[in-house]
Amino acid sequence: MGRSRLPEGRAIGHSAAMLIAQISDMHINAPGTPSMSGVDTIGNLERCVAAVNALDPAPELVLATGDLTKDGTADEYATLRALLAPLTAPVYAIPGNHDIREAMREAFADAAYLPRDGGYMHYAIEGHDLRLIALDTVVAMAPHGMLDDGRLEWLTARLEEAPDRPTALVMHHPPFLSGYAAMDAMRCLDGEALGALVVKHAQIEGILSGHLHRAAHVNFFGTTATASPSTAAQLRLDLSGTVTLGERAIWSDDPPAYMLHLWQPDAGLTSHVMQVPA
Ligand SMILES: [Fe+2]
Ligand SMILES: [Fe+2]
Repeated sequence: MGRSRLPEGRAIGHSAAMLIAQISDMHINAPGTPSMSGVDTIGNLERCVAAVNALDPAPELVLATGDLTKDGTADEYATLRALLAPLTAPVYAIPGNHDIREAMREAFADAAYLPRDGGYMHYAIEGHDLRLIALDTVVAMAPHGMLDDGRLEWLTARLEEAPDRPTALVMHHPPFLSGYAAMDAMRCLDGEALGALVVKHAQIEGILSGHLHRAAHVNFFGTTATASPSTAAQLRLDLSGTVTLGERAIWSDDPPAYMLHLWQPDAGLTSHVMQVPA
């Protein structure tokens, strides 16, 4: 499974390929309640959903990579579900640090892909040309993420059961350092342990994450890792290390955005940032 193959310029639809839309960090509030930093999170997600539905070719599925809601309340999840309902492609959700597993599980009671054992909300998405393994990096009541031994063991078992299937990992917290110190302090803190697994499992073609509220791309232990921008609001990039989070000034004027990932057997993953004017 090489990682530096050259694309042959094949059009999607004419060969084995897969198109994936990724929406992230929607931070949806209930109507009539204060939104995150006054951002029109609901309207911005509505516009992103319409943009995804208008894609031609259409994505096979949509990944919703955490921070689905502002505070994880039942009303917020009900609002979110109503906003996602118009999507014509099936949606697969994972939690972020602003989600509450129990409330999310109840709101997604009809989602057959979610484990029902009361534990971590991780799962594999089978039946497509690219296998997707969705991870739950949430540490309850904490802004940072972890995979720790139990979740890494679960991931190892998934990887070992299909070593020849091209696979991408999906997670809320990026496992890598972005250079934005305040966000790096709340990344997936055991990224190196994940990196050790990446090195051992050559079928991993990429890692798709969120949380950063900015697009970023790095070489992560020999695979490509990306962070998605937010459908709600983008952080102003701080490489000085002086910015602390929690102020209105942290946000940029960059428009809402989502990611469009094209996987082709000869080219691997190509990730496009898709901006949606607010
Ligand atoms: Fe977020
Ligand atoms: Fe987050």
